[in-house]
Amino acid sequence: MIQEKTPSIGRGLLPTELGTEFVSAFYRLLRGTTLYNRKNLVIDRLTEECLQVINPVVKSEGHLSLKIVRDNFFFNNVMIQVKVDQYSILKGFLQEMKNRWIGELEFTEEIEEEKLKDFVYLLSALEENNESNYLYVMRQLEHKGIEAVNVGKLEVFKDEEVYVSSADQKQYSKEVYFESISLVKDVVESVKHQKLLNVRKAKRLMQNAVNALVQDESTLLGLANIKNYDEAIFNHSVNVSIYAIAIGQRIGIPKKYLSHLGMAALFHDIGKTKIPKEILNKTGKLLPEELAMMRLHPIFGVETVMAMKEWGELSSRMIDAAFEHHLKYDLTGYPKPTQKRRLTLFGRIIAVADFYDTLVRPRGGNRFPYVSEKILGIMLQRSGKDFDPALVKVFINMIGVFPLGTLVLLNNNEIGIVIQIQEDTELLDRPKVILLYYSDGEYHKGEMVDLREVDEPTGEFKRNIVRTLDPNQYHINVSEFII
Ligand SMILES: [Fe+2]
Ligand SMILES: [Fe+2]
Repeated sequence: MIQEKTPSIGRGLLPTELGTEFVSAFYRLLRGTTLYNRKNLVIDRLTEECLQVINPVVKSEGHLSLKIVRDNFFFNNVMIQVKVDQYSILKGFLQEMKNRWIGELEFTEEIEEEKLKDFVYLLSALEENNESNYLYVMRQLEHKGIEAVNVGKLEVFKDEEVYVSSADQKQYSKEVYFESISLVKDVVESVKHQKLLNVRKAKRLMQNAVNALVQDESTLLGLANIKNYDEAIFNHSVNVSIYAIAIGQRIGIPKKYLSHLGMAALFHDIGKTKIPKEILNKTGKLLPEELAMMRLHPIFGVETVMAMKEWGELSSRMIDAAFEHHLKYDLTGYPKPTQKRRLTLFGRIIAVADFYDTLVRPRGGNRFPYVSEKILGIMLQRSGKDFDPALVKVFINMIGVFPLGTLVLLNNNEIGIVIQIQEDTELLDRPKVILLYYSDGEYHKGEMVDLREVDEPTGEFKRNIVRTLDPNQYHINVSEFII
C-alpha cells in the first residue's frame, strides 16, 4: 500500500485531527496533575494516552511541535482548524498555556513515560504570569536530563503602533527599568561592603529585561532617553545596558547571549566604585592627576569583577566590558593594552552605548546635555576610529535623529513628543509625534501625527521638525506622555 506522506501524518490522520488529539490528550494530563499525584493510576493512564499520540508523530515526522500564534494553534507548522465540539478543549488549553507564558512545546525525540510525567508536573506547577517561565522549564529539563522536550515563550504580537502597546507591557518595562537600577545599587553596595550578591536574582532580572526589550523596545528606549532622573550613575548603567541589548537584538544576537550582554553592560563602570567620590562628582575640569585616576576605572573594574566569584561563566564577559569600553575601535583609548588585541563584540557594542549615554545627559556643571543629533553626528565622524562602523549605523538607525521622547517644535508652531521612529532609514527625521496642546496651565496629550504625511494638492510634507526643545524649559515631564 502506498502511503501518502502529507498531509496525513501519524496514523493516517490529518494534521488538524492529530493536533486536536494531541491537545486534548495533553490537556487532560495537565489537568490530571492538579487532581492526582504522579503515582495515581489515572495519571498512568493519561500519560499513556498522551504517549500514544506523541511518539508515533515524532517517529514519522521527526518531531512534534505545537505553537501558539495569535490565539491559534499550529501543529507541526499547520494551523489547527477548530471544530465546534473541540472548541472548549482548545480554548481551555490555550488559556492554561497563556497563563503560564508558554507559547510552544516541542518533542524532538520519543519520550519515556516518567520523563513525560516530569515535564507535565513541571508545567503544571509554574506560577502564573511569569514571562520567564519557559526559561525555568528549560533549566529544569536540562537539570533532569530530559532532552526530548523544548518549550518556548509565548509570543506577544506587537501591534503596528507603539501607541497602543498595552498599558501592562509599559508598566512591566518600567518595573524592569527601576528594578535594574536597584540591582546596580545592590551590586555597588555589595562591592563596597564585601557582601555576597544574589546572582541568581540578578540573572533572572536580566532575562526579564531582555524579554521586556524584545517586546517593547520603544518604552525602554524612551525611559533610557529621559534625562530628568536623579541618581545619574545608576541610570547610566541601566541605560547603557538597554542600548546594548537593543543593538544586540538588532544584529541578531540570540536571547541567551543578550542577557549576558546586558549584564556586562550593566556593570561596565563597576570600577568607578573605587574612584574617590570627590573626583567622581567633581563638576569642574579634572586635574591631570585626577584624570589619570579616573582613567583607572576600567582596570579597577576588571579587578572588582575578578574578586567576585559569584558570576561564574559571566565574569569573562564582564571583564571584557570593563576593560574595553574606553579602548576605542582603533585601540587609541585607555587603558593602553600591552599587546594588540581585537575588541570583543560586546566591548564594541558597549563602547557605542556608553558614549551616547554619557553625552546625552546633563553632565556636572553643564546643565544642558548634547542633543542627540549632535552626538550621533560625532559618532558618525568617529566611526571606524573610535567606534565599530557597522555598529554606529545600527545605533543611529535605532535611536533616530530624533529619539523617542524628544520634545520637538514643528514648522506650524505645534510642539510634540516623538513617539515612534520610522523603520525606513531615509525617514529618520519624520517620526510619529504626539502633539501637545496647552490649556488650564499645563500641556495635554493631543492627537498623534505622522510626519510622513503629505499635503495632497502641493505634495509637500504637512509638518516638519524645526528643532528640538528642552522639556525642562516648558515644564514638561516627557515620561508622562510616553509611558
Ligand atoms: Fe566608563
Ligand atoms: Fe560608562
